[in-house]
Amino acid sequence: MIPYNRQSISNSDIELIKKTLKKTIITRGDNLVKFEKAIKNYVNCKYTVGFNSASSALTSACFGLNISKNDIVWTVPNSFVASANCALHFGAKIDFVDIDKEYKNIDIDYLEQKLIKAKKQNKLPKLLISVHFAGQATFQEKIYKLSKKFGFKILEDASHSLGAKRFDQFVGSSKWSDATVFSFHPIKTITSAEGGMVCTNNYSIYKRIILFRNNGITKNPSEFIKKNEGNWYYEQIYLGHNYHLNEIECALGLSQVKQINSFVKKRNSIANFYDKNMRDCGFKLPKIEKENLSSHHLYAINIDTNKINKNFFFKYMSKRGINLNVHYIPIHLHPFYKKLNFKKGDFPNSEWHYDTAISLPIYVGLKINDQKKIINIIKKFVE
Ligand SMILES: Cc1ncc(COP(=O)(O)O)c(C=O)c1O
Repeated sequence: MIPYNRQSISNSDIELIKKTLKKTIITRGDNLVKFEKAIKNYVNCKYTVGFNSASSALTSACFGLNISKNDIVWTVPNSFVASANCALHFGAKIDFVDIDKEYKNIDIDYLEQKLIKAKKQNKLPKLLISVHFAGQATFQEKIYKLSKKFGFKILEDASHSLGAKRFDQFVGSSKWSDATVFSFHPIKTITSAEGGMVCTNNYSIYKRIILFRNNGITKNPSEFIKKNEGNWYYEQIYLGHNYHLNEIECALGLSQVKQINSFVKKRNSIANFYDKNMRDCGFKLPKIEKENLSSHHLYAINIDTNKINKNFFFKYMSKRGINLNVHYIPIHLHPFYKKLNFKKGDFPNSEWHYDTAISLPIYVGLKINDQKKIINIIKKFVE
């Protein structure tokens, strides 16, 4: 089967993992420090903190941003559930902003209108979590401008977008936000098997999330509330979790950092090949905004459901050895979120996208002959 996405592991990745396994310290060691530093240097931000997933990094970032009970947090429905769950863990009230049909990212006009309405009702969000869908940055500078006007904080969920750019800024620089989160799940730009990272330029967020990752524990005497009782002493000052990345995961992540640019280049060339060869298939192909470099985590097309039955298309492709996928089931339509009073029809663009979206295979190891095969099978199906 040709998968829709998968990791790419090199011999040098394997060598660094082997070396790490022979070390005395296999968690919370210098691979973590090096991995955090490498991402910090790559994206050009002040602080980075590694986590064992983007989900835990998002939750920790919410803690870093002081999200608490009844705070209002907005995100988009067109994302993985972790983009919204992270705020619910602190008792926040979640709401959604619909996407635009062109880029499938947050709709800036819709956002502005919703903010104007919320201001009148005294229900402005404390935090907006913007999601860079499929590897394409949002109009982050516009969101930032609105955040200054309406007074909310911004967390970028850039799980898909390591290596992507907006203007001359790498996603992660957090130039237009308070913090950014990456995922290192196997199918993302680079992998640490599981993993995530928070990037920020804000020292107070950085300090809070470091402790949150470590069960809220500090070993720094200057932060102790009570008297230092000796060299063994530590204090728990927050309620946190064990969200650490181990040294083996960090070895893989660290080794992969060197390959970010080549991975993004390869994903772009695959996307360009689809663009060129599927122009006449009657699909809406992904559109990249002119000021963006996409990391092309996904290649999501939209089909005409009057002409194509999505389920049938899936089965047809699967029978011919090609695995497709769909991104995303709108978050507000999951049973858990329906219990929070969201319903079908609330966010029509995200729902339209779900009804029509199909993610085609895109990954570094996808061979040109396999891609040609995929395109030929799709063309035959369309005919
Ligand atoms: C947009 C988005 N946010 C968050 C996550 C969670 O990432 P992780 O699997 O690293 O927890 C994902 C994972 O697919 C994602 O796509």
